[in-house]
Amino acid sequence: MSQQQTHSFTSPKITCTSPVNIAVIKYWGKENEEEHIPLNSSLSGTLNQDDLKTITTVQASTDFTEDELILNGKKEDVNTKRIQRVFRYIRENATAKWYTERPNKEQEIHVHINSTNNFPTAAGLASSASGYCCLVFALGQLFEVKSDLSTIARLGSGSACRSMYGGYVAWEKGHDHESSKAVQIIDENDEFSKQTNILICVVSDKQKHTPSTYGMEQSVKTSKLLKTRASEIVPKRMEEMIKALKERDFNSFAKLTMDDSDCMHACCADTVPPIHYMNETSNQIVQLVKDFNEQLGKKEDNTMDYHVAYTFDAGPNAVLYFKDVESTLKFLAILHVYYPADEVSSFFSKEPYATDMKKYLDWAKNEFKTTVAVDANGLKYVIHTTIGRGPEVVDRQ
Ligand code: DP6
Repeated sequence: MSQQQTHSFTSPKITCTSPVNIAVIKYWGKENEEEHIPLNSSLSGTLNQDDLKTITTVQASTDFTEDELILNGKKEDVNTKRIQRVFRYIRENATAKWYTERPNKEQEIHVHINSTNNFPTAAGLASSASGYCCLVFALGQLFEVKSDLSTIARLGSGSACRSMYGGYVAWEKGHDHESSKAVQIIDENDEFSKQTNILICVVSDKQKHTPSTYGMEQSVKTSKLLKTRASEIVPKRMEEMIKALKERDFNSFAKLTMDDSDCMHACCADTVPPIHYMNETSNQIVQLVKDFNEQLGKKEDNTMDYHVAYTFDAGPNAVLYFKDVESTLKFLAILHVYYPADEVSSFFSKEPYATDMKKYLDWAKNEFKTTVAVDANGLKYVIHTTIGRGPEVVDRQ
């Protein structure tokens, strides 16, 4: 045995953070199950890490006897297809000399990973996008991977590739591993991104939902509508959405966002057996959004200036994209009036917004009109956030 082989090695400990993203043009269905090549391109907003993020620490060492993953304090199985695929691509694309120049690297070097989310599990938010993005980004720094990390994140969970950048990000469908990747459309410092405010309405729900991976698999097998969505509807919508973002055209952005959410859920309903992710409260929020847009933005010629757009993923939570801060505060006031539960109101306390929001309470109570009968217990809480930056290294020791 050469001296190099027996020499022990421990890498620095690298800590990174990654954001959550919420799609405005949805990914629903895979063309290739193994490599997570989607049926259609998609596009999302990257949420602000000050409010929602995954934090992951990675370290490699010859002293570790096996790979280990601790997720929110609990040891997880690393021998899943997804994690093994990610490990394999990271190792194959590593350029770090301490790794590439070690003869028995595969057997001798193991990694320890510790990952937590700063948002409660109770928030009902899928954490796989920020989780896999953070894992891949951190391992990418450690192993000095020079190739596109979004493609490796995609192997963990499709939507994770879009968390690799800040601002608004497209996942180009592509046709193979290299070409199916994320690209930034506008960054977090663009005027459009800076104006966007987001409310995540966490909806009370006892029901266990069909996981998105399984749901989309069923839709691919049985929904005819999904075929038209992928071949005709989304390609056109992607072009229009990219144009809307570049032209900072909130009206088109809002219309396209709501149309695409409706379309994805129509495909779910068209699946055999049908899948329904939205519940009564989801539908009530849709109606509040419609009434709000009409009241604030309907013009004399019946055209509309949108102030907010709704979108729903594989669950009942509503994510609302607002045109600006003022419309966000007005809608927060509406939620405050219609969902007066203690725990909901406590979530509106984020300053400086809480004080400013109070100015609109009378308006929400007396002037805002809706015909929808709201279930006052339907909302668990609300997270107010903005568009933010991509993953970053926060510590190296
Ligand atoms: C409804 O990325 O969780 O959120 O690739 O199977 O891991 P896998 O699926 P995942 O799907 C998310 C679907 C969605 C829409 C979206 O984020 O575009």
